[in-house]
Amino acid sequence: MKKRLIVYFSLTDTTKKFAQELCELVDGDLIPIEPLHPYPLDQKEIEKIAYMEKKRDDRPAIKDPLPSIQDYDFIFIGYPIWWYTFLQIIKTFLDFYDFHHKTIIPFNTHDGSGDGGTYKELQDYVPEAKVLIGLPIRAANMIYDQKGNIIEWLDSLKI
Ligand SMILES: Cc1cc2nc3c(=O)[nH]c(=O)nc-3n(C[C@H](O)[C@H](O)[C@H](O)COP(=O)(O)O)c2cc1C
Repeated sequence: MKKRLIVYFSLTDTTKKFAQELCELVDGDLIPIEPLHPYPLDQKEIEKIAYMEKKRDDRPAIKDPLPSIQDYDFIFIGYPIWWYTFLQIIKTFLDFYDFHHKTIIPFNTHDGSGDGGTYKELQDYVPEAKVLIGLPIRAANMIYDQKGNIIEWLDSLKI
């Protein structure tokens, strides 16, 4: 079987739960993307920081040394929507690698923005990769088990 890596960023564990359920289904390696400088949990504060990061097109540093993706054919990338798109640290992650011959499979959580056009944005940002259609799940629905939806989505990808 082709090797799968599941990386994700999660501030309040919603995307983490999605990533964990996904990991149980695809039998991949699960790795969190953690910022070097942890983000505050206070809603007003994090909104301000996220807004400024976006405005400046920052590349916030990632805490741990990043894994090699050499052995993986499929790289699932999970994130919450921040300010209608993916957060800047995802770009830090993407900048680090050469994605030639890799397939990226995005997944995300949100409070109403859906995927926010991020699957297309990802493809534009990493043109050398093949980016498949991801799965957005509303945060409020993540309190329930989502494995049924995740299985349906995985089946549709035919990977
Ligand atoms: C700074 C910030 C900005 C956000 N902006 C949006 C947004 O534009 N659209 C949206 O649907 N949800 C937005 N959200 C909500 C998150 O996407 C949602 O709660 C997500 O499930 C959180 O995932 P996490 O628990 O893995 O961090 C925002 C959350 C934060 C903290």
